[in-house]
Formats: sequence, C-alpha cells, structure tokens
Amino acid sequence: MILLFADIEDGVRLWEADGDAMAAVSARYDHLVRGRVEGCGGRVFKVVGEACRAVFADPVAALLSAVAIQRAAGAEPWASGLPVRVRVALHCGACAECDGDYVGPVVNRAARLLDIGHGGQVLVTAAAYALLADRLPAGIGLRDLGEQRLRDLGRAERVFQVTGPGLAEGFGVLRSLDDPALRHNLPSQATSFVGRAAELAELRALVSGGSRLVTIAGPGGIGKSRLALQVAADALDGTGDGVWLAELASVAEPGLVARATAAALKVSEAPGRPVLDTLIGAIGDRDLLLVLDNAEHLLGAVAELAGAVIRSCPRVSLLVTSREPLGISGEHVFRVPGLAVPPAGLTAPDRLAAFESVQLFAEHAALRRRGFVIDEASAAAVAAICVRLDGIPLALELAAARLGSLSAAEINARLDQRFSLLTTGNRAALPRHKTLRALIDWSYDLLSPAEQVVFGRLSVFAGGWTLDAAEAVACGGDVADWQVLDLLAALVGKSLVQAEVTGGPTRYRLLETIRHYAAERLALQAGPGQHDTYAAHRDHYLALAETAVAHLTGPDQGSWLDRLDADQANLRRAGEQAVAAPDGTALVLRLGVALHRYSIARSRQQQALELLMTAIRRPDADADPALFAAALVSAAHTACWVDINTARHLAGQAVQVTRQLGDDRLLSRALGALCTACHFAGEPETGATFGQESVERARRVGDDVLLAESLAHYFVAIDPVRSLEMVSEAIACTERSGDHFYNCLLHNNVGIAALIIGNIPAARAHLEALAHPAQQIGWESAEVPANLGLALRAEGDLDGARSMFEASLRISRRNGDSRGMAYGILYLACVIGDLGDWDRAGVLHGSLQAFQDRAGIPWDEFDTRHREDSLAQARARMGDEQLERAYAQGMALSLEKALDLAFSTEAGLRNPDHAAARGALGEAVSDATCTRGRTLSQAAPAAAGSLSAREREIMALLAGGASNARIAAVLYVTPNTVRTHLDRIRDKTGARNRAELTRYAMQAGIEPVVPSP
Ligand SMILES: Nc1ncnc2c1ncn2[C@@H]1O[C@H](COP(=O)(O)OP(=O)(O)OP(=O)(O)O)[C@@H](O)[C@H]1O
Ligand SMILES: [Mg+2]
Repeated sequence: MILLFADIEDGVRLWEADGDAMAAVSARYDHLVRGRVEGCGGRVFKVVGEACRAVFADPVAALLSAVAIQRAAGAEPWASGLPVRVRVALHCGACAECDGDYVGPVVNRAARLLDIGHGGQVLVTAAAYALLADRLPAGIGLRDLGEQRLRDLGRAERVFQVTGPGLAEGFGVLRSLDDPALRHNLPSQATSFVGRAAELAELRALVSGGSRLVTIAGPGGIGKSRLALQVAADALDGTGDGVWLAELASVAEPGLVARATAAALKVSEAPGRPVLDTLIGAIGDRDLLLVLDNAEHLLGAVAELAGAVIRSCPRVSLLVTSREPLGISGEHVFRVPGLAVPPAGLTAPDRLAAFESVQLFAEHAALRRRGFVIDEASAAAVAAICVRLDGIPLALELAAARLGSLSAAEINARLDQRFSLLTTGNRAALPRHKTLRALIDWSYDLLSPAEQVVFGRLSVFAGGWTLDAAEAVACGGDVADWQVLDLLAALVGKSLVQAEVTGGPTRYRLLETIRHYAAERLALQAGPGQHDTYAAHRDHYLALAETAVAHLTGPDQGSWLDRLDADQANLRRAGEQAVAAPDGTALVLRLGVALHRYSIARSRQQQALELLMTAIRRPDADADPALFAAALVSAAHTACWVDINTARHLAGQAVQVTRQLGDDRLLSRALGALCTACHFAGEPETGATFGQESVERARRVGDDVLLAESLAHYFVAIDPVRSLEMVSEAIACTERSGDHFYNCLLHNNVGIAALIIGNIPAARAHLEALAHPAQQIGWESAEVPANLGLALRAEGDLDGARSMFEASLRISRRNGDSRGMAYGILYLACVIGDLGDWDRAGVLHGSLQAFQDRAGIPWDEFDTRHREDSLAQARARMGDEQLERAYAQGMALSLEKALDLAFSTEAGLRNPDHAAARGALGEAVSDATCTRGRTLSQAAPAAAGSLSAREREIMALLAGGASNARIAAVLYVTPNTVRTHLDRIRDKTGARNRAELTRYAMQAGIEPVVPSP
C-alpha cells in the first residue's frame, strides 16, 4: 500500500497572515489535490486543514499523482499572490485500517517525512524507492538526498527527491534533525514514536505558552523520557538557541548536576568559579529549551539548578523528567498516563490498531517475529496483554520481546499466572510500578544463569558502553569473555538492553528502571561480584585512557578524542571508583596523567586538575617516583590553564622531582610548564630561561611531539619576532607527528605574535592555517576568530572583522568565559567605531570598563593599545561631552544588555539618550527579533545591501546546495565559522532556514555557485 501525503508549507502562517485569501486557496487546493489523486486511481482517506492523506495500490500511479499535484500547484495563480507551496511525500508499508482511516508506524513515518520537505518538493522513502526505481516513467528521476533523521527521533530514513520537467529544484537542506541550522544534541531512538498526540499538544502549549519549568512525572517505564525528547524535537524550528538534553541518569552525585548540564550545553568551566555560576552566566539570556532527563535521584540539586536558571535566565524553558516532582514554586507538573488501551471486549483487529498501546506492542512484536500482524488469532490476546500491562510502554516492550519463543496467547496466559500470584486474584490492587516490576521479574527469571550474571554486571556502566567494554567488565567467574557477545545479544533480544547502532561502534545502554533493577540484582549476587565488577569497570576505562595517550598526539587524535567523549560518564565513574578505593592513589594518578592531553583539548582542565590534586596531596602519592613526577608534570601543565599560582608551585616541584629522577622527557615538559607559569606570574626572564632549557632537552630526546610542545611554551616567553622566526620548526614537528592540537595552538599563538608586531599577512596565514586541523579534532576556541578579526580589521575588511568578533563573542558567551567576553566586546566596540557607529562604540567601551572593574580582569598591553586608539578616535569624532555621556551610559549597562547591544544589527544609535530612555538599549534586541519575524519579501531588499562580500559568497554556495562542511572546505574556514556567518546572515535577512536563505539569495540576485567536487 502506497501512501501519498500532501500539505501547504507554512500553512498556519499563511492563515494567520490572510485568512480570507487562504479560505479561497484552501478550497482550490483541495480540488486540485483530490483531482490529481483520484485521476491517478488513488483515494483520499483523510483531510485535516490542508493536510491531505491518500492511498494507492500502484506505486507508479502514486508517483504520477505526486508529480501532477506539484505541476498543477506550480502553475496555479493562487489567490492574492500568496506564496502557496505544496509539499508531497510518498511512503509505503503495511498499515492497519480503522473506520476508513489508516494508522500505525508507517502512517506516522509518512507524516514525519512530509514535515522535513520544502514547498514544491516531492519526497520518497527508501521503501517506496525500492518499488519505483526500475519502473520510473520517462523523464522522472529520484535523487538520493541521503540518510535523514526525522522528527520522531527514530532510525534515520534514506530519502529521495523526485525530479523531472515542471518540478522545482534547488531546495537546499531538508528540515530534518540533521539540518545544521538546528542546534540540538538529541539522540536517535531505535523505534518510532507512538501516539501521545494529546500529551504532546498539551506539553507543547505549556512550554511555548510560558511555563518556564515543566516536570514530566510518572512511574518508571511509563515513557517520560521519550515524551520529553519528542516535545524537544518538535520544538526545534531553527530559531533561538536550540534544545539541549542533559542526561542525569548517570550522574551519581548531586554536586555534579551543574557540571553535567554545563557539559551538555558545551559550557567550559571557568577556573575558580562555581560551575553553577558559570553555567548561569553562559546561558544568560539565550533562548533555549533545556531538558533535564531522569532527575529523581537528584531532586534537591536539580531543584536548585532549575531555580537559579529560572531566576537568572529569562529565555530558558526547562523540561524535567522525574518519577517525583521537584516541588519548587513555579513548577508545572505533568503526569504521564499509560498509552491508550482498548476497552474490554474489543477484539476486532482493525479497531484494536487504533490504540497506542497496541501500536507499540505491534511494532516491537514485528521486530521479534518477522511479519507479525495482529489478526483474528492473536487479537484477543494482544488486547488483553495491553490492558493487563496498563499501557506501560516498557512493560509492553518486554512482553513483546517474548514473541520470539511464545505466541501472544501464551504470553497472556503466563501473565495471568504471575499477576494472580501478585494480587491474589484482585487485579485492581496492582499499582503500575508493581505491574512493571512483575514484568521485569518475569523477564529476569527467564534468563539463563549466565545472562542473569551479565545483566547485573552491566548496571555498573554509566551512559552506555561498547562491546569490548562489556567483554572486559562483564566476564569473570563462570562467564568467559568470548561468551559476552552472545549473552549481550540475548539481552538485547529480550529488550532488557538497548542497542544503538549509529555511524561508529554499536553502543548499548540500560533504560533507567532496568538499570536500577540490574544494580539490585548485582548487589544480591553472591561472593565478591559487585566489588569485582566495579574494579573491572575502573580498570577497563583506565586502560582505555592509557591506550588513548599514544593516539592523542598523533594523526588519529580526532577519532580518539571522540571516543573518549563518548565515554565521559564512564571515565568519570572510573575516577570516582579510583578515588574511593582504599589503595587507589596510584590509580587516580595514572588516570589523571592519561587524561591530561584530552582534558586540555576539550577544555576540561578544571575537572582534570581536581582529580589529580586529590591524589597528589595524599601521603602515599610519591610511592612510585616516576608516576608521581608524571602526575606533577600533568598537573602543572593543566594548572597553567586554570590558576597561575598553583601552576607556578606545581611546575617548580615538578622540575625538582624530574631532575632528581633524571628523566629528560619529563624534565623538558616540567620546564615548559614552569616557563609559561613564570611568564604569566610576572617573571618573564626567568620563564624564558626555563623555556630554553626545556627546548634544549627536547631536542636531545629527539621526539617531535615533545619538541613542538616545549617550543610552544618557549614562544610564550620570548619576543614575537623570534617566535615567528622559529615557529616553522615547531610546526614541521607537528606535521610530522600529526599532532593537530599543538599545530592549532602554535598557529594561533604565533598568529598573535604576528599581530603584535604588525605582520598582518603572516598573522592571517597562521590563523587561517589552523582551520583544517581544528576541524579534524573538533577544536573550538574563541581566541581564533577574535585574532582573525584583528587581522581582517588591520586589512580594512571591517564587515569581515565584525563577523569574526561576533563569532568569538558567541563562543565566549556560550562558555561563560569572562576573559573572552571582555576582549570580544572590546574588539567589537573598536570595529563598530571603525564602521562609523561611534555612539554605540562609546557605550560599549563604557560597558566594558564596568565589566572589567567587576570581574577584575587586567588589560594586557596589546589590548590596551586597541582600546586607547579606539577611544581617542571616538573622542575626536564625538567630542568629549558626547563620548563621556555614551561611556557613562555603558557603565550602567548589565553585561547581558551590553552583549545584546554588541550583537544588535540595528542601525546606528544616533542618540544614546533616546536609547537609554527605551530601557537601557534592551529594545535594540526586541527590534532585532522583530526583523527576524518579518516576512522574507519585506526583509530582502533592505538587508541585501548589508551583506558583506564574505556573506554573499556563503549565500551563493548555500544556494548552490553546498552543506556547511562543503562551504567550510571551499572557503578554507571551519564549519563553526560558516555557522557563525550563517547566524549573522539570518539575523540580517530574517530567513530562518536553508530553504528561506536560498530563496532570499535568489530574490537578492545572488547567483548560486555549485562548488566543484
Ligand atoms: N510514545 C512512545 N513511543 C514509542 N516508544 C515509547 C513511547 N514511550 C515510551 N517508549 C519506550 O518505552 C521505554 C520506556 O520509556 P522511557 O524510558 O521514556 O520511560 P521513563 O518513564 O523515562 O522511565 P524511567 O522512569 O525508568 O526513566 C523506552 O524504550 C521508550 O523508547
Ligand atoms: Mg526516563
């Protein structure tokens, strides 16, 4: 059966814009679609508004109908010239029919496919493609658009676009979860999302209607997390700052809630500042939805975080899932019911299929038994199972998993026995959690003894695991490592373990309710089971970290960084276990040393230093002198990024210990750290001496990685001209070793040196050269775009410079990095002045002064020069009085308001008094937001002229269908830079997504450029 779904893109907006005209459009559209469906032998089975659903028996007829609809819609003179664009999607598969309507996962997928299309487009799934590929009518083609994640978060779907005469082209990126314009970290799910239309509508209304804190509460396995993820996925529309999931199930300590949330939002911790403060500062007034999933074991800490976010971050909505509410004021509690179950006595298969619980059971059943459908023979049993299990999704999944070996009737009969034992015949007395517990008990009892043992052991993992980890951790006793694969597969088959097949190695995980259960079972296992398993877990991740060390300085460091990223929660747990172990000092030191490079490349220095210091301060820390020396060196290096006094102290100790040890390699590294620490502690000459010795020793060792590292430290302490002369040697070392990270650091640091001495071409060359290695390892630094901006400014490309400074400020703001924000605002103030908006520049300089005073951040010489030059020019242009007024005004602004002012694209603030009267420039932001909301056709002519040359270049490539990554490659910049340009283009044009940007480019006369392959 082939489904054809059609609708009008942005229909709701068109109705809001012109209801009368849309009434005429709607009638005409209905006639047009019905005519083309019926003319090709199809049948319309449902119409809601402009969403039209039809069914065909013949795939080619459905395709011809879709093409005919698009051609007719393209030729139609729609009323009042409304931009009516029709979308069509084709999908196929078995669907259940109920009262003339069709329901089930296939129908849901077709609807989700339609959602990601653009007006004028016809999309086809792989299933429909298989039926069409070798029967295509003449002139019609199917273009592969690749795998796309639909909004149900289910498995990615391969999508094709119908091409041919009379069909539009050049749509740009689909609106799927892979659209880079959508900012999120939502994970894929193994199955599609079932039902919950009413719950989704209510939650969506709550979240968008201004309820700042919504807690989705309910018993284990009822579907809280899945519902929250779906609300989040549906909320993604390309505006604002996206939706972010912080998974709290693996967080053991209340004190780590803020840290886990910061990590989810990619906020780096600021040295010496409570993480919660950094997080709140970083969120500021970003507009985002934050999902805190599985909060039940951390209610107090989550309540504290939620309270702080609500007080200080006015544009954040929080969606929490928890078995219990947080119990704080302002919390809106939404209790999740079970999935809808059929009424007693209903056994007609087609009618049953309308119930959510039956749909979920049927989808899982089909996974276990190919071709399973609910028919006359199984209907009564399936209905009884769904009712008996109260529509609890997890219970339904576990029951359906038994279909591998039992029929539905047999499952039902066994449930009967179990439940009558539990309730002594009174079914009503069984609360939901007991129902689920009974189901899990049942699944557990049916496991073989080896499966039971492995199942319990898997509960020690945090945030998922890979097969090799399971083999290392879950074997032992009667279970050999080679058996683990089969045992794990058996547990996946019984729905006790989830398997997530993504691009890389398969990851496994336990749903939270099941993990608790497994942990209870592990605790009950006889003998040293639990202790040994935790030790095996710790040792495995320690070994992983130690194996990674050699790779983290070589050409495959990008994939190893990713690999460690994926196991963050396990590495954290391994650290906690090592700290708690009675004889764990050496283990902590080893882990800290092994993770040193990783923590710096991923800006996790604070955490890394804390871990190392817990052990370095212990009396037995120096039991193994070589290990102690290595730990001191790692701690000293890490502290250079966190706290210079600590770094100075640790590096001094490290030099002393490594000298005694006679280990040249470690000594060279210790001297390098001491060089940097002395330099920043105000002893530059001493620093340079240590740096020189570090380099000499590194040369003697003859290791490229070591030499590049020590040269990088040395350059900090010597004059810029010399560092520029010597840098090619260091860069050559990193190129030979494949050390992308140090390659980036070197290019960046020497780029700064070149800027300082005014060698702009060299600065630019170095700063641009790091784009590629940075991309390889996913390294993002606010410094790089800031420095590049300085180079562009010096070359006179003021728009380009402004884009770069904004990019830098965005990163610092997101990371809560005060120092970065300070220089970001400074440079923006300078370039805004250069662009002639002296009032705004003056206000920004004033705001910066106040921010600096509050944060106590001293200016260095280089920045002082920029600041004084810019202020002198402002004074010359504005006169003393006007500058003083603007400056004073800026001093009174909050940081957030100053940031808004820096980012605002509003035309110059001719009269700062006027701006002040409007509420300290706050309205500059709402004005900018209005621009974004305006229709494209209004915004296009005005904004076209304000696009910089670079922005026009990017628009042309985007209109030519290039992805962000492709644009980055063509322009030799990082994808982050492209994203930043796109943010700015969006701000200027009001276009929200790629399709709108492409359309905008066409309206603005920007010729599409298709990059050569
Ligand atoms: N509407 C749905 N459609 C498809 N699958 C669902 C749906 N709701 C829940 N599930 C599945 O049921 C299982 C349990 O759901 P989930 O983990 O969301 O429950 P929970 O209430 O968050 O449980 P816990 O309290 O243990 O965290 C998961 O495998 C989930 O994917
Ligand atoms: Mg959950």
